[in-house]
Amino acid sequence: MSGNGNELRVLGISGSPRVGNSSYLLNVALEAAAEVNRELVRVESYSFRGKNFGPCLGCFKCSQEKHMGECAIKDDFQHLRDLWLGADAVIYSTPVYHVSIPGQLKCFIDRLGNTINKYYRLTSPRFMKVVGAIAQGMHLFGGQELTINFLLQHAVLKNCIPVSGDGWQSYLGAAGWTGAKREGNSIKRQFESTETDAEVVVQAAESLGRRVTELALILRQGLRHLEDACALDDAYGPILERVRVS
Ligand SMILES: Cc1cc2nc3c(=O)[nH]c(=O)nc-3n(C[C@H](O)[C@H](O)[C@H](O)COP(=O)(O)O)c2cc1C
Repeated sequence: MSGNGNELRVLGISGSPRVGNSSYLLNVALEAAAEVNRELVRVESYSFRGKNFGPCLGCFKCSQEKHMGECAIKDDFQHLRDLWLGADAVIYSTPVYHVSIPGQLKCFIDRLGNTINKYYRLTSPRFMKVVGAIAQGMHLFGGQELTINFLLQHAVLKNCIPVSGDGWQSYLGAAGWTGAKREGNSIKRQFESTETDAEVVVQAAESLGRRVTELALILRQGLRHLEDACALDDAYGPILERVRVS
């Protein structure tokens, strides 16, 4: 999946089935990402709301020669896979569901993880996307860090580059809570009422969006500089194709 070689594509993925706190924080992060360089950076937002993602069937058809990385299930997966592959950076923003990510996001991650190596006919492509994660839940210690950790571990597994939190605001990615409120506008409302915990997660999301984008730009310049050396290893093929100046 190649970009135009010049714009930097930052993909935001909201893992919630509704428009709510996850999409609010994602927008905050994407706005900060765009702010880094309005000419170079293109932000794109994807929401799981209303989408259909079936679970991996474990059929391993994606590994068969004739399918080569194509998932046997046809649903919204293929579209998001293509967005993910075309992005230089990915920011996940998700609610905590039972101390982890929602099932529909897990369905995407399982199928993405199992199909994309074969898709490129490579054992372990250096995807090197810069990945950030935002998680919020209803409760203060509701599993936000575990949720972020899962997403960042998956980034490492797929040869991507995770971005940490920013000092005291958030130790891993950006984590927040709704103050035990169920409403989808809880964090926004609390931020507008200058409540400290909401301010903290909004600042953390802004910082995450900015740093994910800065790192993706740094990485892209580095890859362009080292293109000849990296090209000796096929595993760099997909990312070199994306960062090459057209
Ligand atoms: C099925 C389900 C499981 C949940 N599990 C947790 C949990 O483990 N910890 C937590 O703090 N909040 C949990 N929540 C609350 C949501 O994380 C919270 O309402 C969040 O703000 C929803 O985000 P959204 O507005 O982006 O949809 C759960 C909600 C649902 C529907």
